[in-house]
Amino acid sequence: MTSILNINKQAAKHQISRHIYGHFAEHLGRCVYEGIWVGEDSPIPNTRGIRNDVVEALRHINIPNLRWPGGCFADEYHWKDGIGPREDRPEIVNTNWGKVTENNHFGTHEFMDLCEQLETEPYICGNVGSGTVQEMQEWVEYLTFDGVSPMAKLRKKNGRDKPWKLKYFGIGNENWGCGGKMRVEHYADKYRNYQTYVKDLSGNEIYKIACGPQEADYHWMEVMMREGMDRTEPVQDAVIENIWDYHRPEMNGISLHYYTRNRTNYGSATAFDEELWFDYMRRTMKIEEIIENHAAIMDKYDPAKTVGLIIDEWGTWFSVEPGTNPGFLYQQNTLRDALIAGINLNIFNNHCDRVHMANIAQVINVLQAMILTEGEKMILTPSYHVFDMFKVHQDATLLPINVGTPDYVYGEDTLPKINASASQDQSGTIHISICNIDPNQSEKVTCELDGITDKSQISGRILTAEYMNEHNTFEHPNNVKPEGFHDVKVSENTLSLQVPAKSVLVLTIK
Ligand code: AHR
Repeated sequence: MTSILNINKQAAKHQISRHIYGHFAEHLGRCVYEGIWVGEDSPIPNTRGIRNDVVEALRHINIPNLRWPGGCFADEYHWKDGIGPREDRPEIVNTNWGKVTENNHFGTHEFMDLCEQLETEPYICGNVGSGTVQEMQEWVEYLTFDGVSPMAKLRKKNGRDKPWKLKYFGIGNENWGCGGKMRVEHYADKYRNYQTYVKDLSGNEIYKIACGPQEADYHWMEVMMREGMDRTEPVQDAVIENIWDYHRPEMNGISLHYYTRNRTNYGSATAFDEELWFDYMRRTMKIEEIIENHAAIMDKYDPAKTVGLIIDEWGTWFSVEPGTNPGFLYQQNTLRDALIAGINLNIFNNHCDRVHMANIAQVINVLQAMILTEGEKMILTPSYHVFDMFKVHQDATLLPINVGTPDYVYGEDTLPKINASASQDQSGTIHISICNIDPNQSEKVTCELDGITDKSQISGRILTAEYMNEHNTFEHPNNVKPEGFHDVKVSENTLSLQVPAKSVLVLTIK
């Protein structure tokens, strides 16, 4: 059997936002403390307390944005605890994650410094669950106001004269759960209230992200799209337009959280058989149907697709590594995670007309991490390598792809064997990313693409391994890493290749 990928250059119209390749760092376990922040006096090489090795690794994958401080932590975080001289900051208990005490040494200034070191866009999530409107309004003023005001004065007193640029701001996190257990009807009103005071100051324009549904909660999406925004026709009033943000949309994005997990049995990240391989492929592919159903609701209220679907938490969720704190969500990362990363990124690319951002959970030492650390040691996970290989799609134009593929059969169940997406970057180079989810059989793939000739230069990178659960360890950090892939036959408008079993492949065509 052969899989046929038909790529339609003529139908290209949407850009794959680089923010689909975004990340998430919560005050959870060893993500922020140890993973990012080691403090200025640490023997681990750092710049103003932030690990150099981690910054370098994340810069390499062009991390486009970083969401912080949570997660569940966000709706208990009071930002004023994290500013001013570090020795004066209050110690707090992280009630969501392990009930450990944190010293607040990593706060607003340290996060914005991290983003500057990474050259990435900050995405801050505000506190709706246990915070006040005033607290949220003052945080935005502290961060972005360039004039004379109490918060701008406080920022200057704390050593930062000029405001920062801040685009992405979340109005609460999971307010149906850890963020306040609200009904959507209640949250919609709260959203309208809180977001009113999240203002554009000093030329800074905020992209406001509402808390959206968990998984397939379509009622939440329906109510938020209907009630979350003021739908009265804008008044054509030049004076009002000049003094208020009257015509600016009030909800630029709405989040969706979808984890690849089995809530009745989380299972091991590394010890699994083919049944669990298949099960997790099935669970992860389900996100496509969920995106399409949410997008259909959004289309009803926003046919122009101005509101972004922001998948600001996604990834695998397994049991913690034996012997580690259950509240720290520390898990290993295998070739299975790499396939899951590749599948999701292909799905997000293919829905980039509506999916404007996605943030894998989480960047270091938590859930489907890019990086694992142990003291001064750091390793890159298979998922990191997928983000590295796929970074070529960032801000490229999506080339719609029609995938004809046989099934990967397990027992009586089936899944499509090949999952793919394609894009063309500004220089005209085309990239095709392909996942073969079958752990046993390679697959012959034919790509039909106008304009390919025997003069085309084709190169590729592949990520695979002998075993499904292969992973990198501190002793063997390079068990799973990308290799060159050159076995591609070219003829007029066609590429033919054999995609190895359980692999993620990215082809480059010049
Ligand atoms: O990423 C871990 C947690 O998962 C986040 O804090 C929360 O938003 C979600 O439930």
